[in-house]
Amino acid sequence: MSTNALLSGGPLSGEIAQLFWIFVGIAAFVYVVVIGFLVFALRRREGARAAPADSPAAHRAVRAIGISVGVTAVILVVLAVSDFMSNRVIAATPQDPLRVRVTAHQWWWEIEYVDPDPTRRVRTANELHLPVGRPVQLEMTADDVIHSFWAPELNGKKDLLPGYLTTLTLIAARAGDYTAECAEFCGFQHANMRVAMVAHDPADFGRWYDAQLQPGAEPASPDLLRGRDVLLGSTCVMCHNITGTGASGVTGPDLTHVGSRRWIGAGALPNDPARLSAWISDPQGIKPGTHMPATQLEGKDLTALSNYLASLK
Ligand code: CUA
Repeated sequence: MSTNALLSGGPLSGEIAQLFWIFVGIAAFVYVVVIGFLVFALRRREGARAAPADSPAAHRAVRAIGISVGVTAVILVVLAVSDFMSNRVIAATPQDPLRVRVTAHQWWWEIEYVDPDPTRRVRTANELHLPVGRPVQLEMTADDVIHSFWAPELNGKKDLLPGYLTTLTLIAARAGDYTAECAEFCGFQHANMRVAMVAHDPADFGRWYDAQLQPGAEPASPDLLRGRDVLLGSTCVMCHNITGTGASGVTGPDLTHVGSRRWIGAGALPNDPARLSAWISDPQGIKPGTHMPATQLEGKDLTALSNYLASLK
């Protein structure tokens, strides 16, 4: 996963990109003018003397300095006003937003789609799906320390504070993959705290949402059944939820549809059965400091468990 702050994927990040280029353009212009005058002054210096105080040359110099101060003031006002205007656009309250509750943990993101009907709430982790064109309003808080949600391709950055709600609006202009990262140092694994964001056409988004509302897939083979039994007989259930099974822990990411996700450990590893096995048996080796403890399982049990998790699409 990677991000490019200058590749805008929507109108809000476009606003920031535009502001960036205004600042860069004006600053570059000022730089060239200043260096130009400096070169000019250095070339004239040889044998030149300061003009007498009351001479026309001295008056010209005073006027030039006055004009430069005036131009500088105008430039600063232009920059301040464009900054203010961009901020108004970025921070505006969106119309008819999709509301998503985001809770930052050391070191993963809990994501819940808010719906007035509690049976239509979707819980997931580290992966944010959004419909193209519709504003998504993130209502964000943190569970432990201060984190910061930074989605440069869809908007800017906003801190998540324990016990306090902050909001950030995302709008994706086209379908595709985007990335958000934690942008506030929050401990050992701050660098492994990413959100894979997937923007869908509205119909695709509807299908994804409906699939997420379903309980965890029933095991379709004896191997997968064994995997589920291993899970339900292990300590996994104390931290993780899989709707439709006995697993209902809430301290770790919801795993009801973990097999549909692209990454393991908030962007630490691509998601496949072999890497799930590696993650389950040695999370500290992959993400030192993570609060997930290692689970020692016999080889066949571990494989069955990983296959079962991967089958939870
Ligand atoms: Cu969370 Cu840095």
